[in-house]
Amino acid sequence: MLKEIRAYYQEVVETTISSKNDVFVFKKRFFSKQGVLNSLFSRFKKISKEEKKLVGKDINLLKDLCQKKINSFSLSLVSNKNTVEDLTRPSPTFTGSKHPITKISGQINEIFKSLGFYVSSGPEIEDDWHNFEALNLPKNHPARDMQDTFFVNVNPDFLLRTHTSSVQVRHMSGNKPPIRTISPGRVFRNEAVSSRAHCIFHQIEGLYVDKNVSFTDMKNLLFVFAKKFFGNDVSLRFRPSYFPFTEPSAEMDVFLGTQTEADYRLTKGSGWLEILGCGMVDPNVLSNCNINPKTYSGYAFGMGVERIAMLKYGVKDLRLFFENDLSFLKQFN
Ligand code: PHE
Repeated sequence: MLKEIRAYYQEVVETTISSKNDVFVFKKRFFSKQGVLNSLFSRFKKISKEEKKLVGKDINLLKDLCQKKINSFSLSLVSNKNTVEDLTRPSPTFTGSKHPITKISGQINEIFKSLGFYVSSGPEIEDDWHNFEALNLPKNHPARDMQDTFFVNVNPDFLLRTHTSSVQVRHMSGNKPPIRTISPGRVFRNEAVSSRAHCIFHQIEGLYVDKNVSFTDMKNLLFVFAKKFFGNDVSLRFRPSYFPFTEPSAEMDVFLGTQTEADYRLTKGSGWLEILGCGMVDPNVLSNCNINPKTYSGYAFGMGVERIAMLKYGVKDLRLFFENDLSFLKQFN
């Protein structure tokens, strides 16, 4: 069979298709019911396993070649102005470019992937359990005010996720440690839109759960990340903080300085800008996700992509990322 396939391959290579009639004849010979490919595939079903291994790839190569032969004729029709254009054809050149938020997100993801993390994702419309309750935020808990929420009208139990920690709850509930994942995605908060805040933004949250995971491990990881992203001479600091789902909790700041008025305003006069929240996963959260907190511990962190993009590119107003003004976007090409 192998010899036969190679002979057909040669035949296709030598065939020239220069008219619609040629296409018709070619399709009939190779793609029709009684055609070459069909008969090869039905014979393929009957041969032994060992032979299949040898032959399978070659049949598919032959099929691809036949398809390419037809495609390249269609393309030549398009470039010949006297013939009708195929308007459904995908553009041969791609003139768009990536949005700065997509770029920064990609760079952050790549750094964490190089440190052994894999990407997980989840729904943007969440239920109360995954967004709040499992994370130690029972109904009426005052800390829910930290993340003003958009509820889905038809059912108050559903909401637009306020952070991608919800993905971590889903991931922990469905997987056994060791877990080492990042969850990038869009999140929504019912906040007044200003130069520092928006009702939609992007987050990347990370989670590591295993035996004997320590706060020091987390701090090292986040320092390595920040140095890779901002450069070796970046100044960083860790501050104690509070999140209901981590204990102890901290925030990491990057030093911007106060030389310009914009930096002064952005850092509220201190020179430091907060870029992420983090902490050791609260044992209650692990139990809520069916992970035994006596055996396992973990850390989690979360950062806002817009905030980091503002820092990296020196953009002083977060709203610019959402306006799709081409003169703004072109600067990042
Ligand atoms: N989920 C927090 C937020 O959106 C960030 C965070 C994640 C903090 C993990 C600590 C640990 O603000």
